[in-house]
Amino acid sequence: MTTRPELQGDDPILLFQDWMHLAEASEPNDPNAAALATASPDGLPSVRMVLVKNIEQQGFSFFTNAESQKGCQLQANPRGALCLHWKTLRRQVRVGGPVSNLPPEATDQYFHSRSRRSQIGAAVSQQTRPLPSRTQLEQEVTLFEEAHPEGEIPRPAFWQGYLLQPHTVEFWIDGPDRLHDRLLFTKTGDTWTRTLLYP
Ligand SMILES: Cc1cc2nc3c(=O)[nH]c(=O)nc-3n(C[C@H](O)[C@H](O)[C@H](O)COP(=O)(O)O)c2cc1C
Repeated sequence: MTTRPELQGDDPILLFQDWMHLAEASEPNDPNAAALATASPDGLPSVRMVLVKNIEQQGFSFFTNAESQKGCQLQANPRGALCLHWKTLRRQVRVGGPVSNLPPEATDQYFHSRSRRSQIGAAVSQQTRPLPSRTQLEQEVTLFEEAHPEGEIPRPAFWQGYLLQPHTVEFWIDGPDRLHDRLLFTKTGDTWTRTLLYP
């Protein structure tokens, strides 16, 4: 059997963008939600959802608090993996590779593209650290709003954009009788190699 039309092409980033457009049309929300796996220096993995904001030839970007668990793990072990699952399409994509910090200008641009309240929420949240009570969080938001009644919210130094540069990208489509299709792209230098995998 020849390759399914959904898996044709030699460029996994273009293929990913095609799949994302389909997901944007069919998913009820957040088609760009991805599970992000990171690991501690001694190899203990952890995973959580993030929103993938840009998918370009240089990589997949996401934004978070650099002092969170994922931020600390990426600081110590700058490698990660993303997994997206689109239930409406019955498809999955896995991406893996090194992770670097986006330049401050790119992080600033994204931070200030969010709503003012989202910027305040990000600025106030000591993401992943223990919170004594919900009331404390709400009081901190109120105090921050009083301190910044107008004007631009400064991006906190801990709010950071990251770029995962894909070395592997694997596409998966549900098939009959567990005979799913899997296509792995592996990058060597600037060249991608296509390999079909057993399901
Ligand atoms: C659909 C979805 C999207 C999310 N997107 C982000 C995101 O883009 N950035 C972020 O910091 N947290 C995001 N979160 C929250 C994270 O999953 C997580 O709770 C938080 O970042 C703390 O993770 P950590 O303690 O492992 O660092 C999202 C959660 C969900 C359910």
